[in-house]
Amino acid sequence: MVEADKIYKSRSTGVIISPIGSGEGTFSLGGEELEELRELSPELEGKEKHVPIIKVEGNRVTVNVGAIDHPMEEDHYIEFIQLLKNEKVVAEKRLYPGDKPRAIFIVDDTSDLRAREFCNLHGLWSSE
Ligand SMILES: [Fe+2]
Repeated sequence: MVEADKIYKSRSTGVIISPIGSGEGTFSLGGEELEELRELSPELEGKEKHVPIIKVEGNRVTVNVGAIDHPMEEDHYIEFIQLLKNEKVVAEKRLYPGDKPRAIFIVDDTSDLRAREFCNLHGLWSSE
């Protein structure tokens, strides 16, 4: 089963894909079945470097990657930050080397939010 808002990656090419819709079957690219990336949790690392930290002020939601900013260098950086509600992606920001490892979103309902981010070297990390 391919599920919407999950993140899949090709081991051979590094291509990352997140489908908008769900469906039966598997997800492949060039004959290679893509693997679903598992989210790593704060328990694995504490809150030092990869864990997204959410701060809510009114309807403004700031997500920072790491209590200490994660590096944003050419060979090691955060590729995207997503905001999720009930396991659905409600907002996303793409990031590039040189950017701050942070995203600011304006949302109508700030309840039950969580965030996740993807480091090009260390994988997918969740705020929970
Ligand atoms: Fe990293």
